[in-house]
Amino acid sequence: MHFLTTAKLSRDELNQLIDSAQRFEHGDGQSKPLAGRSVALVFFNPSLRTRASMQVGIYELGGNAVALEPGGTSWTLEHRESAVMDTDKTEHVAEFVRVLGRYCVAIGVRTFAALKNWEEERTDPILNAFAKYSDVPIINLESAMHHPCQAMADMMTIREKLGEGRKKVLLTWAWHPRPLPMAVPNSFALAAAQMGHELVIAHPKGYDLDEALMEEIRGQEARAGGSVSLTNDVDEAFAGAEVVYAKSWGSKDFYGEPEKDIAERARYRDKWIVDEPKMARTNSAIFMHCLPVRRNVIVTDAVIDSSSSVVIDEAENRLHVQKAILARLLKQ
Ligand code: CP
Repeated sequence: MHFLTTAKLSRDELNQLIDSAQRFEHGDGQSKPLAGRSVALVFFNPSLRTRASMQVGIYELGGNAVALEPGGTSWTLEHRESAVMDTDKTEHVAEFVRVLGRYCVAIGVRTFAALKNWEEERTDPILNAFAKYSDVPIINLESAMHHPCQAMADMMTIREKLGEGRKKVLLTWAWHPRPLPMAVPNSFALAAAQMGHELVIAHPKGYDLDEALMEEIRGQEARAGGSVSLTNDVDEAFAGAEVVYAKSWGSKDFYGEPEKDIAERARYRDKWIVDEPKMARTNSAIFMHCLPVRRNVIVTDAVIDSSSSVVIDEAENRLHVQKAILARLLKQ
């Protein structure tokens, strides 16, 4: 009923979602499954693409979007079970989602990692509280651990640009001045594994993804007939890649201690950037990033402004794929 990660979808189901998204893109999917219905969009964090593409997509499906920001345009929210709410939280998710469910046919929620407590945040507590209490489908618009709408747009973009079938896909860490959440690389790696791509994950030592997620990725890769390999060698990683997907993320070793992570990563500043010399080692790879991106930090102007860069088409695909996700969830 919910759309929290791509993990439970088969490769056929992922491809069907992309087929549906392409029908929306080409104007063939003109049905209005949301006619006369509303969808709530709950944002604990800022957004450009997710918010705008969801609002536009809901409108194009005939519906109405209700955007809420807890602590801003709606009350501050508690999510912990049995919490004694005698501090700053005014409303519990238990009431919040069930009330919204009386007005809306689905609820999208964005709730980033706070980057404070790894063991807690890796369980996606706020997203799971929404899913637990909700009577209507919950759509993950980026949680602490996953960004499945982004991953689906990414898989759609790879298929559109390079055709169907297995591709050599590089997910590369990049230097950024401060630690960032892991939701995008987690969901990209998972979906690439599910699609059966030949996935290389490159990051400096100490920047490993979650171990349980890596087990899931390896299992998915084996089932889909792809492969996954890890490297700490950024130059070797680019060799022969057909897709270069750049993203920065924080180290679990320094979770909740950003100053230590910042000190650790300082040595990687000039080395872990996507630039022309690295792209020249690829097999004419396309360059992808979820955006927003820091130019000349994550990627040079020369690469992001080149004909290899597909970041704007990738962002456009958020709209088409989210319409496909909404249509799929709401026809059940
Ligand atoms: N890629 C992405 O989710 O963008 P926003 O944070 O702007 O929504």
